[in-house]
Amino acid sequence: MAETAKRKGPGMSIKHVTCIEDLRQIHKRRVPKAFFDYCDRGSYTEDTLRANRADLEAIKFRQRILVDVSKRDTSTTILGEPAALPLILAPVGLTGMQHGDGEIHACRAAQAAGIPYTLSTMSICSIEDVAGSVDKPFWFQLYVMKDRGFIKALIERAIAAKCSALVLTVDLQVIGQRHADIKNGMTVPPEWSLSKLFDFATKPQWVAGVLRGKRRTFGNLAGHIKGMENVTQLGQWTASQFDTTLNWKDLDWIRSIWPGKLIIKGILDIEDAREAVRTGAQALVVSNHGGRQLDGAQSSIELLPEIVAAVGDQIEVMFDGGIRSGQDVVRALALGAKSCMIGRAYAYGLGAYGEAGVAKAIDIIRNEMLVTMGLCGVNTIAEIDAHILAG
Ligand SMILES: Cc1cc2nc3c(=O)[nH]c(=O)nc-3n(C[C@H](O)[C@H](O)[C@H](O)COP(=O)(O)O)c2cc1C
Repeated sequence: MAETAKRKGPGMSIKHVTCIEDLRQIHKRRVPKAFFDYCDRGSYTEDTLRANRADLEAIKFRQRILVDVSKRDTSTTILGEPAALPLILAPVGLTGMQHGDGEIHACRAAQAAGIPYTLSTMSICSIEDVAGSVDKPFWFQLYVMKDRGFIKALIERAIAAKCSALVLTVDLQVIGQRHADIKNGMTVPPEWSLSKLFDFATKPQWVAGVLRGKRRTFGNLAGHIKGMENVTQLGQWTASQFDTTLNWKDLDWIRSIWPGKLIIKGILDIEDAREAVRTGAQALVVSNHGGRQLDGAQSSIELLPEIVAAVGDQIEVMFDGGIRSGQDVVRALALGAKSCMIGRAYAYGLGAYGEAGVAKAIDIIRNEMLVTMGLCGVNTIAEIDAHILAG
């Protein structure tokens, strides 16, 4: 698998890509190191980042034979809406630095595949840019910052853009350090160096794509905060804005502005899951932010079953963290998730081949799901539960 991508290098045709790891290898070759590492790495010792993968891989299936699996179908509903797969593109900051206008391309690929796309607060393309470039509504992810006037206006912009759900991320009031980002100068403001310029010179496709892209700043912030016009000022403003006072009571305030579907992302604890239910949110995401925040936290797949047992009948439980295949999606569904978000899996596709790469990532996962379902003897998403797991 990855061997193919390694051998063929950056020129490898998308038709030879067979798995998400291939997309990761191509992404690594085509995108400057600072942006690849920003996508790929985790916080501190990366213990939780590794646990997300290791614990998923440790879940084994129970093979069943001679079952009629000719009618396999991955379609489902997510928050009451039809979806072709139980899959959502997670909010990923700076997506537009992996590929020019990356958020628009990722959203288009998701919509073409019939699944939701989530735009990050920290996107390059703004809410309005994305809304003006795609056919259907998308989800918006919110980080609540100290400047509540700005946050209120941001929620109102999401309403005006007809975003169909608000994903409130609650695990980033304090920021986990990613050593690689600091070493690469991915600090805010960015630090430029000769080695970085050399790196850019060896990635002509990325340079052309990002330069051809219309936007290179924080799209949702630029022009909306007084006196903050350039990327350096915006970066400094953002870094000073994460609000450590944020608490459950603030949810009422958000609820008073946002009338639509609310998803609380970043739940790892049963008590917090119960609080999330009390807010009246429609869904929660069991997530450790892809191993980028609390290093030493348990993997999200390890915590999923107990959260489902505690609140799964009262709120839609979504899952993310470490998904790199259709097998992983089926594992999470078997442990009670209703749907899964993917972050890196699609960002690798975007960095590798733009919109076609995101479509490829979704396609790979869909096909792997269909094969896994077939070999486990199930035809529908509703049939997937713990009975398909070994032990
Ligand atoms: C490069 C990168 C940027 C991210 N930015 C955000 C963000 O802006 N908002 C957010 O809620 N989560 C963010 N996340 C976390 C993802 O939404 C998701 O929880 C995580 O990627 C899931 O793990 P996975 O990458 O192993 O699929 C980011 C993740 C990555 C990899």
